[in-house]
Amino acid sequence: MPNLAQLLTSKSSAEYQRVFNICRDISSELEDVDGVYVVGGVVRDLILDREPGDIDLSVVGDAAAFSLALASRLGARSPIESQFQTFKIDSEKMTIGMPSVDVVTARSETYTEPAALPDVTVGTIDDDLKRRDFSVNAMAVSLSATDWGNLVDPANGFGDIMRKRIKVLHDGSFVDDPTRIFRAVRYSIRLSFSLDARTKSLIEKSLANIDILSGTRVRNEFELMLTEPGLVELLRTSEEIGLLAAISPGLRIGSKALLVLEEMAENDSVPSDQTDLLALLTFGMNEDEAAQVVNRFQGPANWGESIVGNAELAKHVAVLDKSDILPSEVVEILKPVPTASIRAYVEAGPPLPRRDRLNQYLEKLQFVKPDTTGADLIDAGIPEGPVMGKLIEVIRRAKLDGQVKTKDEELELAKSRLPGFLTN
Ligand code: CTP
Repeated sequence: MPNLAQLLTSKSSAEYQRVFNICRDISSELEDVDGVYVVGGVVRDLILDREPGDIDLSVVGDAAAFSLALASRLGARSPIESQFQTFKIDSEKMTIGMPSVDVVTARSETYTEPAALPDVTVGTIDDDLKRRDFSVNAMAVSLSATDWGNLVDPANGFGDIMRKRIKVLHDGSFVDDPTRIFRAVRYSIRLSFSLDARTKSLIEKSLANIDILSGTRVRNEFELMLTEPGLVELLRTSEEIGLLAAISPGLRIGSKALLVLEEMAENDSVPSDQTDLLALLTFGMNEDEAAQVVNRFQGPANWGESIVGNAELAKHVAVLDKSDILPSEVVEILKPVPTASIRAYVEAGPPLPRRDRLNQYLEKLQFVKPDTTGADLIDAGIPEGPVMGKLIEVIRRAKLDGQVKTKDEELELAKSRLPGFLTN
């Protein structure tokens, strides 16, 4: 069995080493702990010499006592327990740069129904590795003093890392948990690994199972995609293998949007705001497709708005090409449209005069407000009530169109229009 003690001590950063060393000490002290292992992504990333994420530990024995001791020595809050003896030690209160730690009781899992929660029973470290998604994520390194650094690798994940391939552990994996389809594609792009032939064919056969996933789970996976540095390639591949269409038939990323995104990625200017990114990705989808996608993701309001907003804007945008359109008319048309959709149109839409209008709106017109306030109107003898709001709107339009320039002119305009509003 290869020993990776070297990885634990020299390749990981000081913060990770500190956690590993404390684990070793605790495992010697607690009688009811028979083994402690660092598992999953951290092992994979240490072998690949990549920056690892949060630490996943698998404990054979009393994981509750172990996590309590670990949290206390890390100066963290008490671990938060979730289902099946799983404990989270949040890095929030620890030293800056400390990873969060998830501790599970080594277990085996069986799925009675596709995409349902598995039945869990306490198991060995081998059981715990066999329940996982891919061979490269199914390795454990012991942190116990007696076999410190020993690699447990029943699926030969080490060999697959060397061969640069993502290989699923068993034929039913994507049926048990269709989110693993997203994970497979994500890892293959992130690590520049290929999907092995069987894994690829199982993915093709299991795409329909994505339908069984709840909107929240699909959205979580899609959101994780959006955070990947290789987003453009990830989206292209997802489209090619039918993953996007499996989420929702109308979900496709237009070629123009992909080109724009590619350019942004080169300039390090991919929108950090998720609604901006969504509006760009869904640019070009029609109203029905947009509605289907929003429905599928069951996302928060701003998700839906930016996707549907594109289709709304597409219906009205042509009028912005008119050379004699007034600024107040531009505002009238664009005010109900989410700015994320307007920005997406500027980036991915055709280079027609409308683009200048959209830019004017984003940069200036949307912010134009009268100098006159409600209090000014009252001082000028205008009665309080709904008429005030109407007069402010009249002033705003006039200001947008350059018909009033000063506050005095605004007030004059309000007074001259008052009789009309009072008689209506
Ligand atoms: N896992 C799994 N099936 C899933 C989710 C997770 O088998 N659907 C297992 C894998 O062994 C994975 C580990 O749980 O390595 C931790 O999951 P997660 O934190 O999502 O992944 P990481 O491998 O840590 O990868 P990342 O770098 O993307 O966070």
